[in-house]
Amino acid sequence: MIIGEYQMMERIGGGGSSKVYRGFHMESSKEVCIKEMDISLRDFWTEAYLLRKLDHPSIPKAIDLIGRRDRVYLIMSMLQGESPLKCKLDVQSLNQIMFDMAEVLDFLHNQKPSIFHGDFKPSNMLIGSRNYLLDFGLSKEEGSKFFSNIYSCGTPKYRDPSIKKGNLKFDRKSDIYSWGVTYGELLSRNGISPSKRLSNLLDRATSLDRKIRFSNFKQIISEGRRLF
Ligand SMILES: Nc1ncnc2c1ncn2[C@@H]1O[C@H](COP(=O)(O)OP(=O)(O)O)[C@@H](O)[C@H]1O
Ligand SMILES: [Mg+2]
Repeated sequence: MIIGEYQMMERIGGGGSSKVYRGFHMESSKEVCIKEMDISLRDFWTEAYLLRKLDHPSIPKAIDLIGRRDRVYLIMSMLQGESPLKCKLDVQSLNQIMFDMAEVLDFLHNQKPSIFHGDFKPSNMLIGSRNYLLDFGLSKEEGSKFFSNIYSCGTPKYRDPSIKKGNLKFDRKSDIYSWGVTYGELLSRNGISPSKRLSNLLDRATSLDRKIRFSNFKQIISEGRRLF
């Protein structure tokens, strides 16, 4: 199928509300990633806007946004990597990956206004020679009024339990919670038992008591430097 200036090739991912394809720009032959979204299911607009605005080597770049009937096609840079759920990771690589992700989330939180990812989890990461953070489909800028569908969309396991129905706002502590749950999950999937100090750090990241939970990734990163 041809979408604007792009040829769509095989499907490489996506689930409920999107399908992701490999593709290329027909004139330049440059490879791209095409995310097809149903406009009734997704806030594609914020995702495209944020990817357009953000400039970080670990975040995909938005190249184009093409509408067609009830679908919209987000054209992005094609990133090389694997899902962390498909890899066997040793302790060093896993720690590196998770602290790379902490750096990217810290970068988002330090934008003005702050950006909260809102859906951090293993399937929204790609790992390889560089580690990437994907999927800004639930991300929001601080102060944005549009928090309507977060509760129903986020994956319950990784969602900050203090985000309740009727109070749908999430913040930097919600991303910290999701990061901590993801870290714990990847440790156990790979049969790695964390050191006492890492285990304490993860307990503080995922604490249900928001006063105990870390307030920002800077604190986590500086504790991490002392651990490894
Ligand atoms: N820019 C990209 N480059 C390479 N692969 C990508 C890219 N964006 C998404 N993918 C692949 O597609 C999958 C689904 O993308 P994602 O943005 O998470 O969609 P969804 O919102 O449906 O979860 C990812 O897990 C990844 O494998
Ligand atoms: Mg996703």
